[in-house]
Amino acid sequence: MLVKNAKFFLGGKITEKDILIEGERIKAVGSFSGKGIDASGFLVLPGLIDAHVHLRDPGATHKEDFHSGTRAAIAGGITTVLDMPNNNPPTTTLERLEEKRAIASKKAVCDYGFHFGAGTNNFEEVKRAKPGSLKIYMGKTTGDLFLPDEKLIFLHFQNFPKDKPIVVHAEDQAIIETEGRTPLAAQVAVAKATMLAEKSGRTICIAHASTAREIELAKKWRKSLVETCPHYLFLDQEKIRHLGNLGKVYPPVRDEAERKKLWGALDSVDYVSTDHAPHLPKEKEKGAAGFPGLETSLALMLDAYNKKQIGMEWIISRMCENPARIFNMRGKGKIAPGFQADLVFVDLRKEWKVRAENMQSKCGWSPYEGMSLKGKAAKVIFRGELVLDGEEMVKEIRGKEVMQ
Ligand code: NCD
Ligand code: ZN
Ligand code: ZN
Repeated sequence: MLVKNAKFFLGGKITEKDILIEGERIKAVGSFSGKGIDASGFLVLPGLIDAHVHLRDPGATHKEDFHSGTRAAIAGGITTVLDMPNNNPPTTTLERLEEKRAIASKKAVCDYGFHFGAGTNNFEEVKRAKPGSLKIYMGKTTGDLFLPDEKLIFLHFQNFPKDKPIVVHAEDQAIIETEGRTPLAAQVAVAKATMLAEKSGRTICIAHASTAREIELAKKWRKSLVETCPHYLFLDQEKIRHLGNLGKVYPPVRDEAERKKLWGALDSVDYVSTDHAPHLPKEKEKGAAGFPGLETSLALMLDAYNKKQIGMEWIISRMCENPARIFNMRGKGKIAPGFQADLVFVDLRKEWKVRAENMQSKCGWSPYEGMSLKGKAAKVIFRGELVLDGEEMVKEIRGKEVMQ
């Protein structure tokens, strides 16, 4: 396959070249004769990598499954997802990881990897399963995964290979129980996790940072990495008031002042994930926490780019290159010879309205419903094949596990 006239970033500079694809990989960039897909009028990005999604499979496939969730990813320009372990039952044994692998290998239409759950007593199991990433919950959230004290956190920090990341849901359960899910609850947990990580000399990733202070605290240890999510950048308490119970998410979206401070700390954010956490509207009415996000994250960023709020290189580093590096995915996240041919053609001029009824996710709603955005994924090439063309998912290609 040949992509003609592709505008993309190469070595920090925007360039226009043809991209020659052989099989699933980029063979060369340059000038080539022959017919191909014309990328004129688009900007071409590496397929996005979303390191934090909840595909609910197995356990709650009425909310999402590996098929619907990875279709949602492709629709949003995301070609790799890392699935969280807070299933019912949680992914805390090798057997459950293998079960997920079997499901994903049959249903996923983008690439995937798995975070393994840190339990109160599964240290040997973690060693046996050898997952690419471990997830620790310091506060209670959807599902039962939760570590009740610092000793267990520290033991996992010591036990898990130092060259692999541990992702931490940092909300302090004691503070949650005293004053709720305040910024302080998140910040105290980040401070604790950061100090324990420093003591263990290991890398941790602070999941879904919702305030600038968390980022500042995390960065007191040089091996702490920080994730944030679009809803903390584009939504605040004011903007979600109309959502009622639909607006519940952990950690909560903050007030406008916190949101602005978060924008001011973006240089220190290492990667952006969606925390795609689908629940049905009727479950939200009963208090379920979480937002879907796979089909809106890139578009929200492109809209912000159009408004000159954010640079394109920031988007590419935080949503493609950095997650590939942090989660040890070889051959991902870049447009260069030898890399996997996962490409997103973005139409920066496309004006559209967010409508959940047009989405692939099973959950059927979006916190951004009705929002007007400028910019969208217009075509997706995954593993060398055109899978999304305009609004059409034209083909399904089986995804593979990419983080091991
Ligand atoms: C997530 C979910 O529903 O799985 N919910 C959420 O509000 N973020 C769990 C989590 O990421 O903490
Ligand atoms: Zn979480
Ligand atoms: Zn999550």
